Amino acid sequence: MDSHIVVAIDGYSSCGKSTLAKALARELHFIYVDSGAMYRAVALYFIRNQIDPNNNSQVLEALKNIHLNFHSRDYETHVTLNDEEVSSEIRLMPVSENVSTVAAIKEVRHEMVKQQQRMGRSKNIVMDGRDIGTAVFPNAQIKIFMTADPKVRAERRLRELLPKNPTITLEEIFENLAHRDYQDTTRLESPLVRAHDAIILDNTDLTQQEQLLFALSIVEPFLEKK
Ligand code: DC
Repeated sequence: MDSHIVVAIDGYSSCGKSTLAKALARELHFIYVDSGAMYRAVALYFIRNQIDPNNNSQVLEALKNIHLNFHSRDYETHVTLNDEEVSSEIRLMPVSENVSTVAAIKEVRHEMVKQQQRMGRSKNIVMDGRDIGTAVFPNAQIKIFMTADPKVRAERRLRELLPKNPTITLEEIFENLAHRDYQDTTRLESPLVRAHDAIILDNTDLTQQEQLLFALSIVEPFLEKK
C-alpha cells in the first residue's frame, strides 16, 4: 500500500465538490486538484480553435497542441493553457455549455487521466471530478460521492455566477446542469457513476462546515494509520 493518501471526490455538477475538496485539502495540508478545470481548459481551446469534437484527426492534432499547467495558490487551482492564464474564462457559460461534449471524447479523457495519475503518484491529494474514484484512482483510500437536490444545486450556482454574469437566469442554469448530468452519466467512456466503495454525501441540507466535519471523520482513521 502506498504511504500517501488520495481522497477522491466525485459527483454531479455544482454539488459543492470543489468547495468541500478545497476545505478538506486546507485542513489536512494536502494538495488540491480540480480535474474539471482540465476538461474546461481543453473545451476552451476547442471553442477558440473551432475544433469539431466529432472529427478525430482534428481532436488528435488539438491534443498535441494543448499544454496545460497547474499551480495551486491558496488552494485555488490556477490553470494555464499554452502559457495563458485561463482560470476565470473556463468558468463562463460558453465553456460550461461545451465542456461535457469535449469531456466525453475518449482521447481527451485518456490524456487527462494520464496527467491526473501523475499528479497523485507521490503526494497526499484531494482530487474532485466525475471518475476519480472509478477510473483515475480506483485504489484511492477515501472515496466520497456527492449529490444534492437539483434545484438547490441550481440556486447555489446562480449565486456564484451572478456577480460575473448579471443577466443569467435560474432556468438557464437548471437546464445546463440537467444537460451536463445527462451527458456525464450516459457517455460511453468512464461515465459518472458511484464507485461501489464510495461513501455517499447528500448535502442538500448540510452547511459547508457540516460537510467538512463529515469528510474529516472519514479521512481521520487513515491519518492515524500512517
Ligand atoms: O466539475 P466541473 O463542473 O468543473 O467539470 C466540468 C465538466 O468536465 C463536467 O461537465 C464533466 C467533466 N469532467 C469529467 O468528465 N471528468 C472529471 N474528472 C471532471 C470533470
